Amino acid sequence: MQTQTELGKLLEWVEIMRGRIREIVREWADQEGNLIMMLHAIQNEFGYISRGAAGELAKETGISMARIYEVITFYHYFRVTPPGKHTLQVCMGTACYLKGAAALHKELERQLGILAAAGGGHDEFQLETVRCIGCCGMAPAVVVDAETHGRLCPGDMAQILHQKQKA
Ligand code: FES
Repeated sequence: MQTQTELGKLLEWVEIMRGRIREIVREWADQEGNLIMMLHAIQNEFGYISRGAAGELAKETGISMARIYEVITFYHYFRVTPPGKHTLQVCMGTACYLKGAAALHKELERQLGILAAAGGGHDEFQLETVRCIGCCGMAPAVVVDAETHGRLCPGDMAQILHQKQKA
């Protein structure tokens, strides 16, 4: 059960979110293709697009929730859940794919599943796939919090997660 203070903070946060979305809508109101730009601005501001933020956007613009979610789900870039503390981006560009990127991704999923089963830590990590990151000579590559790791094999994944958990 939430305390009065927690509830107060939550309501304050909702007001801040609404105010910022109203500003974003005003900023982009007259621009062509503004829905995508407004969604980008919301995600940049809050890290993801919550249902509440999407609802506020619908209310302020008159755009239906169905249309907003059509755009959000079409583009991989948009998130509907809060980002993890650490980002793991597996490159699925051609060179990396041919050198085993799918196996790295599968192993990361497996390791995160082990963390979840062991009682936590998995939600600190955001697992994503990206296209060529320009380091094909290091294929297969994974970017961990903006640091590129190359020539990896599935056996390296546990250590990468372990190091980040300690960070
Ligand atoms: S394909 Fe992965 S870095 Fe180019």
